[in-house]
Amino acid sequence: MNRTRRPLIAGNWKMNGLSAASTSLAAELAARATDAARSGSLRADVLLCPPATLLAEVGRLVAGSPIATGGQDCHAEASGAFTGDVSAEMLADIGCRYVIVGHSERRSLHKESDAIVLAKASAALRAGLAAIVCVGETAAERDAGQALAVVERQLRGSAPSTSAAVVVAYEPVWAIGTGRTASPADIGEVHAHLRQVLKDHLGPKGNDVRILYGGSVKAANAGAILSTADVDGALVGGASLKADDFWGIVTAV
Ligand code: PGA
Repeated sequence: MNRTRRPLIAGNWKMNGLSAASTSLAAELAARATDAARSGSLRADVLLCPPATLLAEVGRLVAGSPIATGGQDCHAEASGAFTGDVSAEMLADIGCRYVIVGHSERRSLHKESDAIVLAKASAALRAGLAAIVCVGETAAERDAGQALAVVERQLRGSAPSTSAAVVVAYEPVWAIGTGRTASPADIGEVHAHLRQVLKDHLGPKGNDVRILYGGSVKAANAGAILSTADVDGALVGGASLKADDFWGIVTAV
C-alpha cells in the first residue's frame, strides 16, 4: 500500500440482489461507514456496484455517507438505439461516480475486446465517471508464463492514455469466484509490472492510478493482500454481498 494513493474497496454485486435484502445491506454499510468516518477510522474510499435495477435506490440509501456508487458496465455511446444497454451519462445522472469496464465476465461471456473496453472506459471519462478497467490472465495463460504479457496487452489496449481518472483492477480469471487467491508474491509481481506500464502509458500521472486486486478477496486474506506493495485496494465479488464480510475487508486497510 502506498500512502499517497487512498485505497479503494469496491463491492461488485454482479447479477445478485433483490430490493429488500439489498437495501438493508446498503443501509447497514452506509451506517458503518458514517460511524467510521466520524471516528476517524475509515482509511479507504468505499464503493458499491449493485446491478442497474438497484443503483438509484442504493444511491439514495448511501447519500450523505462516505460510500459511492458505480455501475458494472456501460455502453460506449451516450444514448441511442441500443436496447438493454445503459450509458455512462445515465449512470452519472443518477449519482454514480464510477463504472467497472472490461470485467472478465464481460470479456468472456459478452466477447468484449480491448477496443470495446477502451471505448467504454473513454465513455466513462466523457461522462465524468472514473473507469475501473479490469485486466487478468486465465489459468492457461499463467501456466504458459504469459501472465505479465497478457495483462500488459489488456492494459495498453483498454485503458485511455489521456487521463488519470482510471482505476485498474487486476483480477486473475482463475481466482474469481473460485476461493483461490493469487499469492502476495504473484500479486506484487503483476502490480509492479502494471505500475511500470501505467507510467509508460500515462507519464507521471501513472503514479496516481490506483491498482486494485480482485479474485476471492475475503476478510481473512485481505490484510496480506492489501499490505502488498502497489496494491491500492480490492474489487470484491462474493464477499461484498454480506455486510460483515465486506466491512471486514474495509477495516483490513
Ligand atoms: P470474487 O469476484 O470476489 O467473488 O472472486 C471478484 C470479481 O469478479 O470482481
